Amino acid sequence: MTFPKGFYWGAATASYQVEGGIENCDWAKAAREGRVPPCGRACDHYNRYEADFDIAKSLGHNAHRFSLEWARIEPEEGKFDEREIEHYRVVIKALKKSGIKPYTTLWHFTLPLWFSESGGFERKDSPEIFARYAKYVAEKLGSDLEGISTINEPMVVNSLGYLVGEWPPFKRVPHIKKFALSDRARRDGLGPTTSWKNWFVFFFKVDKNFVRAHNAAYDAIKSVAPSMEVSIVKHTVYYHSNENLINKVKAKVANWYWTYRFMNRVIDKCDSVGVNYYQHKKFGDKEIRPKTDMGWEVYPEGIEGALKLLWRYKKPLFVSEAGVADHDDDMRADYIKRQVAGVWKAIQDGVDVRGHMYWSLLDNYEWAFGFNKRFGLVEIDYDTLERKIRPSAYVYKQIIEANGIVD
Ligand code: BGC
Repeated sequence: MTFPKGFYWGAATASYQVEGGIENCDWAKAAREGRVPPCGRACDHYNRYEADFDIAKSLGHNAHRFSLEWARIEPEEGKFDEREIEHYRVVIKALKKSGIKPYTTLWHFTLPLWFSESGGFERKDSPEIFARYAKYVAEKLGSDLEGISTINEPMVVNSLGYLVGEWPPFKRVPHIKKFALSDRARRDGLGPTTSWKNWFVFFFKVDKNFVRAHNAAYDAIKSVAPSMEVSIVKHTVYYHSNENLINKVKAKVANWYWTYRFMNRVIDKCDSVGVNYYQHKKFGDKEIRPKTDMGWEVYPEGIEGALKLLWRYKKPLFVSEAGVADHDDDMRADYIKRQVAGVWKAIQDGVDVRGHMYWSLLDNYEWAFGFNKRFGLVEIDYDTLERKIRPSAYVYKQIIEANGIVD
């Protein structure tokens, strides 16, 4: 299974999940209030990025997706911190020195405190605020980056923030508790606000403002960096079904709700689309499959279907995240092979996929679950911060070196 020439391979991370020391964002505040686990120094990647990129290089990676911490760059409304931009410039330099192409994401779930406390994406002017930040970054770092993704997983962040209420700003609609992801949230309740009004806020404010924010950020980036590849990163659940007609309709509606409804409104302002794949649901399916440490069905081959869902827009795609929480590293190697095979199959059927970023380079802070879910190619000992390369990382390395699967 050989991949096209120039196909890029690597892994992804996100600032809050690995950097450590971020205190001025909504998640840090939520942690101080005891609503989500504390993140603290995380992997201390903010200081250890060079050593981490050395590891990525030793594993054959030639691309890396990371996110910028908005709260660091714009700690006060409209005031940008040059030192933090300088930090990220040095981070990008370190990647390039290792022969790794840098791809960044402007916003991966955590919001600066000044923004979240003044309403976040409920604010009418939130799209302009986001676009101003996007423009600043593009001006400062545009010439150093291979690509900029605007928003990571809009549907996840607004669903968990406004419908399920498990993530900041902890708003939820009544009777939703059973959809809680984490045991902790189920046990402790999901936060104070439970009202149908949140449903309206979700659909008619936040959802709309995410669309407007992406579109405005696209224009803002292009105004200063016209050749920059700008994308959005879409969490794509692959809904499919057995042959039963009703189940087929269910899958169609679910794909429309979760993926197309949002993408239809931003696709004109995308040069490419990042696909994050972790989960599938096959309506009418009775097969019992093993589960990952997240409790998700092991079905890495579903990535083929996820890519094909997004290929309807005929824009180049890249796998911006896909991977498995597997504490003991028992299933990861096989999972990666099956996942990569799924990408290869999509390419054989004409889908234009440009790269593959495994989630994640390092074990990290898994949001409401804290640190015990292990997605990393590299294991982190959170007491000593020692890095240990997992055996599965070498299997991925072989795939990268062969630009495909050989056996
Ligand atoms: C997110 C990551 C997260 C991963 C695993 C993705 O939805 O972008 O931040 O760690 O899933 O749950």
